[in-house]
Amino acid sequence: MKSTYVLLAVLFLCINAVTSSAASSVLPKGYTSWKKSERKVITDKSSLFYGIHYIYADKKAWSGYLADNRFAEGSRIVVEFFNIKNDPSVDGPKNMIVLMQKERRQGSTGGWLFAGFSSDGKPSGIDPVATCFGCHLKDAAQKEFVISTKKDFKF
Ligand code: HEC
Repeated sequence: MKSTYVLLAVLFLCINAVTSSAASSVLPKGYTSWKKSERKVITDKSSLFYGIHYIYADKKAWSGYLADNRFAEGSRIVVEFFNIKNDPSVDGPKNMIVLMQKERRQGSTGGWLFAGFSSDGKPSGIDPVATCFGCHLKDAAQKEFVISTKKDFKF
């Protein structure tokens, strides 16, 4: 009987570790030296993406883009967002960073870990299912949930 409780406790801890993994995700160091997209400016104020952003892909993710969005386990993609000040040709202050990391075990979000960070890289504790996955599912179900393509990058 007692061993059943122990087993249940261990099981609970395991489940907890898996489901809380998004909250404890860390922003990869050195991502600004990865493959970088074009500078993307969205001046439509009604858009969630109003502002300036850059997409960064690590080596695995870049290979995935080159293979028309077929990504290997561990691929990482980061987006940095900046405000627009008066002059859209100049980046305003950074306001947000997001990460997608290919992890097979993240079944509820298409096999990707989705995570959001404040401008200083601290986890913002967003709920990846409620906050992130909907758009990526709608716009990129046929592209492994990655909306951008190699065309968004400089060669
Ligand atoms: C309103 C819809 C929407 C929501 C919500 C959303 N995204 Fe995206 N996301 C997009 C679009 C559109 C792009 C492509 C941007 C581009 O091509 O410049 C994108 C791009 C990305 C990329 C670069 C790889 C790709 O798919 O092109 C990452 C990483 C990313 N989003 C992470 C997140 C995270 C993490 C969240 C939750 C905090 C989130 N997104 C919420 C629409 C959304």
